[in-house]
Amino acid sequence: MNDALNQLQPYPFEKLRALLAGAQPPSEKKAIALSIGEPKHRSPAFVAEALSANLDQLAVYPTTLGIPALREAIAAWCGRRFGVPAGWLDPARHVLPVNGTREALFAFTQAVVNRVDSSQEPGLVVSPNPFYQIYEGAALLAGAQPHYLACLQEHGFNPDFDAVPSEIWRRCQLLFLCSPGNPTGALIPLETLKKLIQLADEFDFVIAADECYSELYFDEQQPPAGLLSACAELGRSDFARCVVFHSLSKRSNLPGLRSGFVAGDADILKSFLLYRTYHGCAMPVQTQLASVAAWNDEEHVRANRALYREKFAAVLDILGGVLDVQRPDGGFYLWAKTPVDDETFSRELFAREHVTVVPGSYLSRSVDGLNPGANRVRMALVAPLAECVEAAERIRSFLQND
Ligand SMILES: Cc1ncc(COP(=O)(O)O)c(C=O)c1O
Repeated sequence: MNDALNQLQPYPFEKLRALLAGAQPPSEKKAIALSIGEPKHRSPAFVAEALSANLDQLAVYPTTLGIPALREAIAAWCGRRFGVPAGWLDPARHVLPVNGTREALFAFTQAVVNRVDSSQEPGLVVSPNPFYQIYEGAALLAGAQPHYLACLQEHGFNPDFDAVPSEIWRRCQLLFLCSPGNPTGALIPLETLKKLIQLADEFDFVIAADECYSELYFDEQQPPAGLLSACAELGRSDFARCVVFHSLSKRSNLPGLRSGFVAGDADILKSFLLYRTYHGCAMPVQTQLASVAAWNDEEHVRANRALYREKFAAVLDILGGVLDVQRPDGGFYLWAKTPVDDETFSRELFAREHVTVVPGSYLSRSVDGLNPGANRVRMALVAPLAECVEAAERIRSFLQND
């Protein structure tokens, strides 16, 4: 067996199951899960219709490159959303469909990391900490060494990139960004993105910007910038060293469709396409056609954001005075500070109130004795409004009765 498999950490939900095993929550209180980041709002009916209208495509082998109609719809969406000037994103070279960002983040790392023999230092895959665990597993299985950058409150829950020594950038092969962040909800400012692009040029590494939460924001007039916006501002029409990851899962409540895309540097995507051809992960044509319909519509995305806005306002109103928690810049998580350690908080909350949250330390790693997720929990506001409100009320009474 592949030795690197032994380096993989148990997934946070496995740790959570073990933590909660044996607890006996009150049966009269219905279980409420704020733990899983699975969108629960209704999927758009027109996407389901586009999917079922194209089932004749079941008889067709899809190509890894995808159909032109999808790549064109994606390039046009990137132009509208991130201000990429017309003609910069060539749908034939700068865009690839992927089956959700999860598989793409994993596969991309395998394609980018250059293995070295055991006499040399392994390359680094640099990521935020806390982070989406796929980054770490992908790095380890690619033969790289993960390097974590703490996302602390005093730095707006973003890594302090200015404090990273040149030696780390020199060894860096791939930098993961996540904006809005999971679990912190922090946005990486446009100026920081531009600085990181300069560093990528100076030290020759690739930036993978996981922007799968980019469409969940609060101010309709101010959609968050992304790595493509930074390229546009810099006049970087070749998107050199930059690749973005987007998904319909959160934007359009379609986690079961398994549809997203990567866009950016054409040379990198050419190699990634080669990798994917062998990997065998082409998107079914009916899924591609349904995805075209989803990328071409913003009305359902605005309605989606309105639902999250309503839930964040209601929940924060209830928790405001009792828990140290702020509205994030984007995404659908609250990243709350706990009055006791995060495992105890999560276990007791489950045992007494039948509400499940994720201990922050399960989403991050200790570096030099510091775990940036310690004494925090992640709460996903994905359930319907009434359920989120009920959960918030139970958390408030849990804290007040403590
Ligand atoms: C930060 C982050 N990236 C990527 C993903 C994967 O999403 P999908 O594969 O549905 O696009 C998730 C899912 O929860 C996530 O939280």
